[in-house]
Amino acid sequence: MPLLIKNGRIVTATDDYHADIYCEGETITRIERGINPGGLPSGVRVINADGHFVFPGFIDPHVHVYLPFMGTYAKDTWETASRAALAGGTTTLIEMICPGKAEEPLAAFETWLSKARGVASCDYSFHMGVTRFDDLAERQLREIVGRGITSFKVFLAYKGALGVDDRELYRTLRLAKELGVVVTAHCENETLVAERQAELIAAGHTGPEYHEASRPVRVEAEGVQHLMTFAELTGASVYIVHTSCREAVAEAVRGFSRGVNGWIEVVLPHLILDESFARKAGFEGAKYVMSPPLRDAAQQAPMWDSLRAGNISTVATDHAPFDFESQKSMGKGDFTKIPNGIPSVENRVDLLYTHGVCTGRIDLHTFVNAASTAAARIFGLKGKGVISPGADADLVVYDPTYRGTISAKTHHMATDYSAFEGWEVRGRASYVSVRGAVMVEQGRVTGVAGQGRLVPRLCASSAHTSRC
Ligand code: URP
Ligand code: ZN
Ligand code: ZN
Repeated sequence: MPLLIKNGRIVTATDDYHADIYCEGETITRIERGINPGGLPSGVRVINADGHFVFPGFIDPHVHVYLPFMGTYAKDTWETASRAALAGGTTTLIEMICPGKAEEPLAAFETWLSKARGVASCDYSFHMGVTRFDDLAERQLREIVGRGITSFKVFLAYKGALGVDDRELYRTLRLAKELGVVVTAHCENETLVAERQAELIAAGHTGPEYHEASRPVRVEAEGVQHLMTFAELTGASVYIVHTSCREAVAEAVRGFSRGVNGWIEVVLPHLILDESFARKAGFEGAKYVMSPPLRDAAQQAPMWDSLRAGNISTVATDHAPFDFESQKSMGKGDFTKIPNGIPSVENRVDLLYTHGVCTGRIDLHTFVNAASTAAARIFGLKGKGVISPGADADLVVYDPTYRGTISAKTHHMATDYSAFEGWEVRGRASYVSVRGAVMVEQGRVTGVAGQGRLVPRLCASSAHTSRC
């Protein structure tokens, strides 16, 4: 059904104006003032966006949905995670494929794809996790890139589990350079983490409040510096995920100034939560255990500053959903066994708007760029992140007058808790379309599951000019 969005204030990464948007099939075909519905084919769906923003569909470039990790599985399915994403205005997710070290990359790719295909309500793609690098892995990685998965993921952390050694890191980056794909990287020095964890546990420091001490800021900064050295020597493009502190940002910027091509991501929890949450009484702090850890509150202002200045390109979530009662509890008596992660895919846009735009920390263009457009550009998501004729009709009609409260009782994520229980939001996605199909109406997810599609992607080196 054709879709006409009338009277909205269209805000993109670069523009701010009033106009109507007409969508036919899956794409935007006209953007003009005063489009008369009477002159359009019968059956056109009209949404009045008077008093609302119209944003391009938001993109979360770092989520985990299917995640075998730390002796358990993340709680969401693609059905729950994609509905949660849409409720929060996110129309495209990029999930990390995290194969076990013994797993073949192609088999892992098929497994992860099968979890989303026919189930997801929003569009999606993947970063291909490289947890081993040998001849077979290299052959299969080439094939996976040929199927449009034009980014890799490496973990410098998680010793003995997902982490790669330096030989594997070097070869992965060399292959990425050859293929023109981006390498996303979790940067923490895994040996330092393992040693400090062992020391803290041996000293009887077993609660979630010690998680930060086991991986302090220099551990992360060292990881970034390490990645930058390898990127410099191979020429690969790198994207540093969930950067949590000014020390890590400084190492990345230092690398960029030496000629490394790359981008920095911050995730919502690091912008608005701090390490005091991990000190909550009664093991409540486990809800706030993620890696890199939540930092001293004084780290937040420099992260917002870097976002405003453009040193940080994207705001993702690193959505990694584990229940409090049955999963986070695995780490009672030993914080190193608490499954890492904070569920947040549903709340990113509203909390970034509330704590970023409404407070004046970032303007509307930075908000749209960081939560949508930059990810589309960096990861070559064709047709996404913009509002222009020919683009995918992924649109968010956003109500800035809405006031609401976050709660696990009402969220769409599968977890039994919210890290933001009781927090106020000052805006919400009233209507959301994915390629022209209206999936959210008056804030309620109404779309049919399974509508989501694997997004065609371009290579980093040729973004927006050619397919891989
Ligand atoms: O704590 C986190 N970040 N959990 C998910 C896995 C990862 O490191 O991204
Ligand atoms: Zn990570
Ligand atoms: Zn992650």
